[in-house]
Amino acid sequence: MRFENKVVVIFGGNSGIGLASAKAFAAEGAQVVITGRNPDTLASAAREIGPAAHAIQSDIAVLAQIDNVVAAVKAKFGRIDVLFVNAGVGRFMPLESVTEQDWDEIQHINLKGPFFAVQKCVPLMGHGGSIVLTSSIGHAKGLPGNSVYAASKAGLRALARNFGAELVGRGIRVNCFSPGPIETPIINRSGVPPEQIPALREMMINNIPMHRMGTAEEAARAVLFLASEDASFVTGIDLFVDGGAVSF
Ligand SMILES: NC(=O)c1ccc[n+]([C@@H]2O[C@H](COP(=O)([O-])OP(=O)(O)OC[C@H]3O[C@@H](n4cnc5c(N)ncnc54)[C@H](OP(=O)(O)O)[C@@H]3O)[C@@H](O)[C@H]2O)c1
Repeated sequence: MRFENKVVVIFGGNSGIGLASAKAFAAEGAQVVITGRNPDTLASAAREIGPAAHAIQSDIAVLAQIDNVVAAVKAKFGRIDVLFVNAGVGRFMPLESVTEQDWDEIQHINLKGPFFAVQKCVPLMGHGGSIVLTSSIGHAKGLPGNSVYAASKAGLRALARNFGAELVGRGIRVNCFSPGPIETPIINRSGVPPEQIPALREMMINNIPMHRMGTAEEAARAVLFLASEDASFVTGIDLFVDGGAVSF
């Protein structure tokens, strides 16, 4: 019960890694605020998490909607102990096909939104607080069609270092967590035609030394480690959860 009576806020908590993490935090005693844009998956996620869940519909790319989350958390709990900024989208797009709209959409959700989510939540955090940002192994690898997404995730890795340096004096740790391929609904939203997804999965698995994709629960365990007192001397790092994909 590492999170007994802790207030955990998860931007992007209604699906995949965010939802698995929300369930794990709740199982260890936390009150868990989850956000996302989709009201249906927010409602079903809140049911799955149980009575400790508090769902708020919010688009992280819209600063006024981040303000709504912060105001609701402040009114209900008055503080944040753990902030997990996990919202993200990705699409494989060959360089020549990327439009300014594609660039803006991905950077606004994956990088601008997380920056301002941290900026707006930090006033509710104090000594002992922990922030985890979801990046991706994409920031550390070159992959055809992944440049816009990878650039956003490299930005998050940089934010973890720089926020960490800025907040260390206030007793707040900031870390980055970089998953490799994890089984979540994100693959169905990657812009890849459904008939090509099995071949994409096979290609990804062939590039992972452990020869399998990770589960959302395995990713969540790494997030909870970084968020918990188990990582009390850990700040500014990037934790790869990737079956060895970056290292070997
Ligand atoms: N699965 C992987 O293989 C993998 C690998 C590397 C990194 N990641 C990263 O891990 C994170 C979680 O991904 P996942 O695999 O769990 O995928 P997922 O199941 O598609 O979850 C993505 C989450 O982000 C939320 N989100 C997306 N756009 C948002 C927006 N504008 N405002 C607020 N919330 C938003 C989604 O909620 P709504 O759709 O309701 O808004 C959902 O909760 C992402 O940052 C992703 O880039 C995943």
